[in-house]
Amino acid sequence: PSDDRISRIGSTIRVIPDFPKPGIMFQDITTLLLDPKAFKDTIDLFVERYKDKEISVVAGIEARGFIFGPPIALAIGAKFVPMRKPNKLPGAVISEEYSLEYGTDTMEMHVGAVQAGERALVIDDLIATGGTLCAAIKLLERVGVDVVECACVIELPELKGRDRLGDKPLFVLVSSA
Ligand code: PRP
Repeated sequence: PSDDRISRIGSTIRVIPDFPKPGIMFQDITTLLLDPKAFKDTIDLFVERYKDKEISVVAGIEARGFIFGPPIALAIGAKFVPMRKPNKLPGAVISEEYSLEYGTDTMEMHVGAVQAGERALVIDDLIATGGTLCAAIKLLERVGVDVVECACVIELPELKGRDRLGDKPLFVLVSSA
């Protein structure tokens, strides 16, 4: 999207080469959080987009979806549901396994956190291959939730994660080469 706020947000994201391993250019949003205007603009841009879409669930993906999701949920009057790494949630969970570059990982959500027919936004800091967002969509759809859109601060378009989401809409603020 074109907005004066977007280029400023992009400029606050720090890129750290070779983290966590050689060849990875890590997109570090902690420096965005250090800039109160950029952080507020980020939340405002999402809130402006989702406030009138009758969303009742903001599903945030561990870990950095837990930073951006709650302020959006509060502002649009939705509940916040954490989508967690395995064995972190204390209650009964449903799980979805998904593939990583090497091996697999599992995402979990509390049973009863959402009801069939609810409308959800899925939020994370970044989409790379799209595997993580796909797992979140599947988990929510398995219990009858309508995933209206996924939203991220950053997209790495070269990895074509957007294609993996099929026709599920994806909204991002910043694209990174
Ligand atoms: C990062 C990022 C997304 C995911 C995207 O999380 O925050 O959650 O990778 O990758 P994908 O599109 O290829 O699935 P990370 O693996 O760093 O885990 P963390 O948030 O718990 O640190």
